[in-house]
Amino acid sequence: MIHIIKANANHVEGIAKVCSDGYWATYKETHSEAYIEGIIKDFYNHDRILKEVTETSKEWGGYFVAVEENEVIGAGGGGLVGDRSGEIFVLYLNPGRRNEGIGTKIVDAITKQQKEEFNATEQWVSVAKGNQKGIPFYEARGFVLDHERDGHGNVDGESYISLRYYRKI
Ligand SMILES: CC(C)(COP(=O)(O)OP(=O)(O)OC[C@H]1O[C@@H](n2cnc3c(N)ncnc32)[C@H](O)[C@@H]1OP(=O)(O)O)[C@@H](O)C(=O)NCCC(=O)NCCS
Repeated sequence: MIHIIKANANHVEGIAKVCSDGYWATYKETHSEAYIEGIIKDFYNHDRILKEVTETSKEWGGYFVAVEENEVIGAGGGGLVGDRSGEIFVLYLNPGRRNEGIGTKIVDAITKQQKEEFNATEQWVSVAKGNQKGIPFYEARGFVLDHERDGHGNVDGESYISLRYYRKI
C-alpha cells in the first residue's frame, strides 16, 4: 500500500535518496557529472531537507512523500510564485518505480494544497529541455509549454535551457 503524506523529519534521509537517485537517473545522459554532483550537494543534503520539512510557508509548502512499507519511494513539493500562481519545484521517484501512478498522486497532493490552502488558480513547472522522463508526464497531466528560459543554477559555467510549462488548476 502506498500512502502520500506530508513529510516530517523522519523522512529526510528517504527524500535525499529518492531526489539524488532520481536526479542522476534523469540527467546522466544530458548533463555533466560535475553539474549533477553540484546540484545534489546544494539541494539534496540532509540539513537543507530537514529545514524544508520543518519550515514551511505559502512560498514553500513542504515536501509530500510517497511511502510504502516505511520506505520513501517518491517526493515532491512546491509553493506560490505569484498571488494565484503555484509551482511544482521538485518531483522525483525511485527510478525503478516510474509509470505506476505515484508521480500523479504526489502532484495531486501538491495541487490540492496550492488550490485549497494557498488559493492558486494556475500552476507552473520548469523542466529541463530534453528531459523525456519528465515532459511526457506533465503533458499527460494537462500542462502546456509556455516559454523557454536559461536554466537556473550554474555550475562550472554550465547552464541548461529550461522549459516553463503551465496549466489551470
Ligand atoms: C516525472 C515523474 C515524477 C512522473 O511520475 P510517474 O509515477 O512515473 O508518473 P505516472 O505513472 O503518475 O504518470 C505517467 C503519465 O505520463 C505519461 N507518460 C509517461 N511517459 C510517457 C511517454 N514516454 N510518452 C507519453 N506519455 C508518457 C503516461 O501516459 C501517464 O499518463 P496517463 O496516466 O494519463 O496514462 C517520474 O517519471 C520521474 O521521476 N521522472 C524522472 C524525474 C523527473 O523528470 N522529474 C521531473 C523534474 S521537473
